[in-house]
Amino acid sequence: MKILVTGAAGFIGAALSLRLLERGDEIIGVDNLNDYYDVTLKHARLARLTPFENFKFVLLNIADRAAMEQLFATEKFERVVNLAAQAGVRYSITNPHVYAESNLIGFLNILEGCRQNQIDLIYASSSSVYGANAKLPFSTDDKVDNPVSLYAATKKSNELMAHSYSHLYNFSTTGLRFFTVYGEWGRPDMSPFIFARQIMAGKPIDLFNYGNHRRDFTYIDDIVEGILRVIDQPAKSRYQIYNIGNSQPEQLLTFVETLEKYLGKTAIKNLLPMQPGDVQDTFADVSDLMRDFDYSPKTLLDVGIEKFVTWYKTFYEN
Ligand SMILES: NC(=O)c1ccc[n+]([C@@H]2O[C@H](COP(=O)([O-])OP(=O)(O)OC[C@H]3O[C@@H](n4cnc5c(N)ncnc54)[C@H](O)[C@@H]3O)[C@@H](O)[C@H]2O)c1
Repeated sequence: MKILVTGAAGFIGAALSLRLLERGDEIIGVDNLNDYYDVTLKHARLARLTPFENFKFVLLNIADRAAMEQLFATEKFERVVNLAAQAGVRYSITNPHVYAESNLIGFLNILEGCRQNQIDLIYASSSSVYGANAKLPFSTDDKVDNPVSLYAATKKSNELMAHSYSHLYNFSTTGLRFFTVYGEWGRPDMSPFIFARQIMAGKPIDLFNYGNHRRDFTYIDDIVEGILRVIDQPAKSRYQIYNIGNSQPEQLLTFVETLEKYLGKTAIKNLLPMQPGDVQDTFADVSDLMRDFDYSPKTLLDVGIEKFVTWYKTFYEN
């Protein structure tokens, strides 16, 4: 298949592209390589993709309407996987406009490209859409009208925009609500990475809500496997939303203890109050994913963290 993967230099986009390239799909990878976090890591991820003959990289901002129209007109995609977005809950408090540009305007350009060319779309949503919901586990049947950050509001908006397009036009949209993804080649702005860096440097780690968060940490390979299954199976309906999470929330402190075990160092813990924009717990109900794709993420935290730490030490300490 010829597949457009946006955000191809990102954590999930690069991991997905690699799997698709290895099995022989033709990938057009788009990314604007912005400097929200260390750009050398984005280049290093891309360097794993560029040796494949079936990979082409296009440096592009998905918010650039003319360039996006041109891309869709030139390449005839069979699937589009939109992972490009401004991620991060806390950054959206200080830098709101970039979220509107990438996550709203950019997403509209993706929808338009799919509409004009009748291509089924798979796109990243987020567990953050559950916002202030207190009922656990989070189900795709729950109302999600209480986002507690602008980031979450843009992801919920994507789902609404996708609904209108798949209602009006002849293509399907599948939104995937990812739950805290971690693993090799991960994101330096996320807690697993920040914790590893601080612990290795003998510096304190900040544990918000005094460490009393529970997160449904989901290992990168499981996320990729979930996306692959969605790519490969024709959509059951025009508009679909799925949770992809481990469905096994862990205490933040357990996460830190496991990191300590594999890093071989003890963390200095800075216990702090809850941060604005954060949610207390996340917990994915993945029964829809099981029903329609016979799949749910399974990697144990202990196994995933060991792999992450092995990669982290190789990448940063050699
Ligand atoms: N990692 C997680 O835990 C997680 C959880 C929930 C949802 N998500 C969503 O999954 C998707 C991928 O996340 P990730 O963790 O790989 O993030 P990431 O930041 O590593 O990857 C996103 C990539 O998109 C690129 N990008 C951003 N804006 C762009 C634009 N306007 N045009 C072109 N490229 C642009 C960035 O340069 C980056 O390489 C995002 O939509 C994110 O919101 C991630």
